[in-house]
Order: sequence, then structure tokens, then C-alpha cells
Amino acid sequence: MASTADHETAESTTTPILAEARRRRTFAVISHPDAGKSTLTEALVLHAKVIAEAGAIHGKSGRRSTVSDWMEMEKARGISITSTALQFAYRSPDGTDCVINLLDTPGHADFSEDTYRVLTAVDCAVMLIDAAKGLEPQTLKLFQVCRHRRIPIITVINKWDRPGRDALELMDEIELRIGVQPTPLTWPVGYAGAFKGVLDRATGGFIRFTRTAGGATIAPEEYLSADRASLLEGDHWTTAVEECALLSADGADYDRDSFLACATTPVLFTSAVLNFGVSQLLDVLVHRAPAPSAQIDLAGNRRPVDGPFSAFVFRVQAGMDAAHRDRLAFARVCSGSFHRGDVVTHAATGKPFTTKYAQSVFGQQRTTMDTAYPGDVIGLVNATALRVGDTLYCEEPVQYPPIPNFAPEHFAVARAADAGKHKQFRRGITQLEQEGVIQVLRSDLRGDQAPVLAAVGPMQFEVTSHRMAAELHAPIELEHLKYTLARRTRPADAEFLQAQRSVEVLTRTDGALLALFTDKWRLDAIERDNPNLHLEPLVAATE
Ligand code: G4P
Repeated sequence: MASTADHETAESTTTPILAEARRRRTFAVISHPDAGKSTLTEALVLHAKVIAEAGAIHGKSGRRSTVSDWMEMEKARGISITSTALQFAYRSPDGTDCVINLLDTPGHADFSEDTYRVLTAVDCAVMLIDAAKGLEPQTLKLFQVCRHRRIPIITVINKWDRPGRDALELMDEIELRIGVQPTPLTWPVGYAGAFKGVLDRATGGFIRFTRTAGGATIAPEEYLSADRASLLEGDHWTTAVEECALLSADGADYDRDSFLACATTPVLFTSAVLNFGVSQLLDVLVHRAPAPSAQIDLAGNRRPVDGPFSAFVFRVQAGMDAAHRDRLAFARVCSGSFHRGDVVTHAATGKPFTTKYAQSVFGQQRTTMDTAYPGDVIGLVNATALRVGDTLYCEEPVQYPPIPNFAPEHFAVARAADAGKHKQFRRGITQLEQEGVIQVLRSDLRGDQAPVLAAVGPMQFEVTSHRMAAELHAPIELEHLKYTLARRTRPADAEFLQAQRSVEVLTRTDGALLALFTDKWRLDAIERDNPNLHLEPLVAATE
């Protein structure tokens, strides 16, 4: 595919750190479950030649092996709950060298809070859509989160090898339901189910794909002129050319500024399982996706990418596999260079933090990470002091904005199933809370033996129960509560609210005072009768 590097216009002076930052592409693939995220991840890595044959990273049919199936529950359900960071070097056909950081996100909507945390650490998102299903609920939600965070989105219509929807109809759906104009870079030749290749809209030429057995190796592709394509593909080609003319008439042409402003989304068509269209996606990532840029700190200042080292923790996770029963904090580098062993400052406490055990995490494989640059993700081992949202820095102090907790909608009281294990129970709940698996609310009334767990999705309870029993040796019993809504309130209103029917006031560990309500009608009635009460909505998944 023809590619004019959008990055070549960057500043003329280049420091070594800036040069490293410019060749980083840090992104996440997000989709509704089953759209093909694992398959595409595998195909991307295959194309980058990290592995010789697709299947070595993950994927289903017993091929799943390394990336995100650290928990039995994930295997049993075939979904990914946790996420890791893949890093690989990639040299594009024009000789551009890149370092790709691909952050994996949990597949299930119940873990959208975790997906959101991962999205705070990326510069761009690849939104994967199943050609037959179009926009699904989770796709819509994630699109909104990306727009809210101003994360540019590359859209990939996948499974074009299977019968599916009409391509123009899919473009209309994206524009109408999301309000982002799709600007296809390639256009499919052959309807969904008869995928011949793609028309490269920049050159008007044809990229023809050839199937390989099982799609396990890189599919050969040929670049053919429009005349040759017309001879070979006949009506399929004519249709593609006509449809592209309609797109151009509609102004649906790629534009860098509107892409970066999230007003448009470049679109590609793929069959991840056959490895079709994957090299085009890599090309777009290399030449069109943004490189890391200056992050804005809590005070609203920009920390230059080549300033002193800074990073923020976007997830904390323990028990990633049986061989490493430890706790990892994943930090995204925002500025400067990182060298393992550096002593950095933990902004939350002002204390020094040694980075002797820095690793990169590639599925269950971990390797020591000696250096890192903006855009990279460092896995800090046994970093018990670190919490989600914490900033680390060298020299000039900086603090990045905290990562908000989502508004919980499910609540349950947790108790130790074995009364003799109260210590393990407390430790376990605290650990899972610090990892962001669950929010924990307490009140004097309920006591410390019976905290209320609060979740965005009910599967978070399953994960909590599972991990408390299997990993933290403190099985729990859950008593589900009838509340469905939480509002932040203030101490002055707590007593009044607590006295209301179907309302309970609890304190979250971060200090927020939350009033829980059974339903919206009850909340509306209380608000109507007491307009002076402070009842502030919490961050919703799509805010
Ligand atoms: P996810 O991570 O988004 O949940 O999706 P995943 O990659 O696991 O893919 C979901 C299913 O869709 C898998 O089938 C996978 O093979 C299939 N798939 C992914 N990309 C394509 C594609 O481009 N074309 C077609 N036809 N299928 C695709 P499965 O039946 O669940 O597993 P398997 O037995 O095929 O491995």
C-alpha cells in the first residue's frame, strides 16, 4: 500500500530520546468479544516475524498458550479477563523501523473498567468489527470511551472471508451511530465471503491476497495495476471502483488532522484468520498512527517527551501465572528514558523506588527490561507500594491525573467462608482492591468483617471469589445487595441519607463517601424532595 509517512514533518531537532519515542507505536486492539482480537494480535505478531507460525501467542482451538490465559476461569470461558503488553520490533517494507507496543484488553464488558485503564496508556486504538455483526454493544461503548479520551481510532472490518454485511452499509452504520466519519484506506474487492483482495485507495491499484493452508503463515500478496485487476476480477473490481467513487464523492477520504482529532477513522478490511490485510494494518500503524506525545499532568502542564523520566501505573496485577506468584505493576513511560536499576520517585509518597526488577511481559514469558522509552510499558515486579494511577518520575517532579474508578452498579457483601481465616480474607480483599479487580466499601454498621464489594459488571465478583479461594487461600461467601446506583455525597448529608428507606451510605477506600440506591426512581424521589443534598454522579463507563 502506498504510504506517505505522516511523521516526517516532525520537529527538526532530534534528541536520542525523541528519536526512540518517534518510532514507538503504542496501541490497543478493542472489540466486542469474538470479533477476532486474539486472532488479529497473533497475525500482527506473525507479520512482524516475531513468531514463525500463528498460534504461538494465543488463539483458540487448543492453540491458546501464552498471552492472557493465566487463569483457569479464562480458559473455561474462552474469554480474556486480564491483559498484558506485547512489544515487538517491526521493519516496514520501506525500511522504517518501529517498536510496536500492543496492549491487550479484557474481552468482556464486565471488565470495562480495566479496558479503560489500558486505554489511558495508549496513543491509538484499533477497533475491530465483525463484518457480519457490525457495531455491537461493546464496540459502541469502547468507541465512546476512545472519543472521550481523544484516542484516535483505526477501524478494521474483520472476517471479510465470511458472508457478512455490505461494505457501504457498514460505513453508514459507523457514521450514523457513532458520529465519526469512516475514511477507508482500502476497499474490499469481492463481497463478504468472496474476499479477493483490496483496492488501495491512495494509488487505485489492487492488492491481491492468496490463501495459505489454515492461514498459519503470511498470506502472499501481489500488487496489480487497475487494468490487470479489471481483467482478473471483472465485476468484483468494477464494483469496488464504483463504490470508491461514491466514497470520494462523499468526502470519505483519509485526512490526518481529523483522524487525530477523532472526527474521522481510517478503515481497513481484513480476514485475520487468513492473514489478509494484516500488513496493511501494520503499514497504517507505522505511517499514520501517532507516536507518543507530551502528556498533560495534574496541573495542566505538558511534560515534554524528551524531558526527565516519568511514567504512570495503569494496572496492577498479581498471580499472572503459577510460576510467578508475584505482583506486577504495569507502568507506561511518558517521558525520558528508563534504565533498569534507576532509583525513581514515587509521586504519591515522595519515597524513592528502586527499579531493579523491571520486566517486559510477553504473555507468560517475562524478560528483563533494561531500557525503555516513551510509549513502552514496564512491568515492575513486587511493587507493593504502587497503585493504579500512581506516577513515577526522576528529577523534575510530576504527577499525572488519577485514573477514575467507574460507577459501580452491582454490590455484594463479602464474608470469609472460614471464620478462622479472617487475616487472609482482609489481606486478599485489599490486594484485589489495589489491583482494581473490585472496589471495596465499608461502614461502621457493617464492620470490617463484612465489606461491601462494588463492581461495574457481575463477573468481577466471580473473579474475586475465584482468586480469593484459589490464590489467596481465603474462600468467601457473597450476599448480593439490591442496590444498583451509587452517588458521591458529603459527610454533612450522610446521616440524613442513611435514614432513608432503600439507601445506604458507605466509604470507599479512596475516601469517597458513596450513597447507594436501589433504583433510579428512589434516587429521583429523594433528590426531588431534598434539592440541597449533594448527590454527584460518578464516572460512567462512557463518560
Ligand atoms: P476475540 O479475541 O475477539 O474474542 O476473538 P478470537 O480471535 O478468539 O476469534 C473468535 C472466533 O472468530 C474464532 O473462531 C476465530 O477463529 C474466528 N475468526 C477470527 N478472525 C476471523 C476471520 O477473519 N475470519 C473468520 N472466518 N473467522 C475469524 P472460533 O470458532 O471461536 O475458534 P477457532 O476454532 O476457529 O479457533
